[in-house]
Formats: sequence, C-alpha cells, structure tokens
Amino acid sequence: MRIGFIGTGTITEAMVKGIVASELSVSQIIVSPRSREIANRLADSFTAVKVAADNQDVIRSADVVFLAIRPQIAEEVINALEFRQGQVVVSVVAAVDRERLLSWIGKDVELTQAIPLPFVADRQGVTAIFPPNERVAKIFDALGTAVECETKQEYDLLAAASTLMGTYFGVLDHVTGWLVENGLPQQKARAYLAPLFTSLAQTAVHAEQTSLSDLRREFSTKGGLNEQVFESFVQHGGTQALSTALDGVLRRIRS
Ligand SMILES: NC(=O)c1ccc[n+]([C@@H]2O[C@H](COP(=O)([O-])OP(=O)(O)OC[C@H]3O[C@@H](n4cnc5c(N)ncnc54)[C@H](OP(=O)(O)O)[C@@H]3O)[C@@H](O)[C@H]2O)c1
Repeated sequence: MRIGFIGTGTITEAMVKGIVASELSVSQIIVSPRSREIANRLADSFTAVKVAADNQDVIRSADVVFLAIRPQIAEEVINALEFRQGQVVVSVVAAVDRERLLSWIGKDVELTQAIPLPFVADRQGVTAIFPPNERVAKIFDALGTAVECETKQEYDLLAAASTLMGTYFGVLDHVTGWLVENGLPQQKARAYLAPLFTSLAQTAVHAEQTSLSDLRREFSTKGGLNEQVFESFVQHGGTQALSTALDGVLRRIRS
C-alpha cells in the first residue's frame, strides 16, 4: 500500500511517525512539499517517505490519500486536484462535511472522514472514522484503535467529545495551581496528579464491564472525601458547565 498526504503539518507528521513504526505493509509514504520543513524532516528520518513534487503528484503516486490541510484553504486546494475514480480518500479536515468534500473532489471516490489525535504518533490514538471502511479502519487500528461510526450523528458526537483535550489539561493545570497556592511545590503537584489521572483513565479502559457511575461509587467511600468533591462539583455547576460546553461545540460542528 502507498499512502499519500496532502498537507504535511502537525497531524500528518504524527500519522507518518505512527505508520512507519506500525506493522502495516506500506511500501511508500508520499508527502506534499508543504510544509517544506516537516516534509524534509520526515524524508530524512524515514526511508519509506518521499516528498512529492506537488499535491497532484501525491494523488498520482498513492493508493490511499489523506487530506490534512486546514479547513480555511480546503476548498481551494481540493478543487484544484484531479482524483482517480474509486480512489481511497481520507479527510481529517475538521468541520467540513462529506457532502462538501465530495462536491469539491467531484469524482466517485471512496471517501472516509477521520479524527486522528496526536497520540497516533505513538500508536496509542483512538480515531473516529465515518462511514465505516475496512481499509481505513485497518490503518487507524495500527495507530491505536479505530472507532467506526455508522451515522454522521455518531461521528459528530465523537468529534465533540474529542474537544475535551484542552479542558483535561485545563483541569490538571487548575488543580496544580490550587496545590501550589496552598504550599506544594509545582513539580511535586504535577508529578502526583499526572500519574493519578493516568491510573484513573487506565481503570476506565480496563474495567469496561463496569459502568462509569459504578466506578465513581467504587472510588468514593460513602460519606467520604471523594463523594464530597463530586457532590460539590455538581452543586456548583461543574457537570452543567460540561454539558453546556459540549452542546455549544456540537452546534458549531453541525453548522
Ligand atoms: N493537529 C491535530 O491534532 C488535528 C487532529 C485532527 C484533525 N486535524 C485537522 O487536520 C488538518 C491539519 O491540521 P494540522 O494541525 O496538521 O495543521 P498544520 O500543522 O497547520 O498543517 C497544515 C499544513 O498544510 C500545509 N499547506 C498549506 N497550504 C497548502 C497547500 N496549498 N497544499 C498543501 N499543503 C498546504 C501547511 O504548510 P505551510 O506551513 O507551508 O503553510 C501545513 O504544513 C486541519 O484541518 C485540522 O483541523 C488536526
């Protein structure tokens, strides 16, 4: 399989790193020349990576083409390209839906949308894809786990959920700041909190038969401190704030 990328930025670099370290049978990875710095860095680092002459050269040379440009320029870039009938195309462009992509591509291609996250570089990324596609799922399974969405509704909801990354670090940062304000050295606060959150996430992944509300109860002694914090979080609008934020982002994704 030859995999091509149009737009060689942050997320392409992460995907390429994951692909070369994976067990996928990929004979060549063709990246577009922009950005020049990242394209050259990838070609210098990995023998399978070749920098294309231009975007059209990527399409000519690849069986599977990833579109990884920013949404603002997507129409202009995609309109200018000539795809092959039936070509496998994967768009990771945020907030541009299937109908618009197909109208710009203007050919009957096998189009899948995907939301890769930076963790694909370490083959630890969970990636939502829509619609289900065996070949594309295989690629993202090799970079972590692919979650195949049956409907646009499912895909949009996972896109909304993926926007919690900033909030996750915001919560860590806020609690670290609170610990520091109360006298704990910053380094110690972070060294404690980050592994604590890692262990909690691992528990949620491994105990998949246990409901999350049961896990919350399991990790909160009745009348104890964990229970007190969650009750206070709910009472002060913490859960409502999360729902409001997700409702807002979902509206934006759907618009
Ligand atoms: N970063 C993430 O975690 C992530 C996750 C999921 C989806 N996405 C989506 O993936 C897309 C790319 O995101 P990114 O974070 O990788 O952005 P990025 O780092 O800005 O990469 C975009 C790349 O496109 C290049 N480019 C600009 N004009 C081009 C053209 N005419 N033809 C080909 N390439 C061109 C840019 O090169 P120059 O620097 O030379 O302009 C840049 O290297 C976006 O639609 C984003 O929403 C990103």
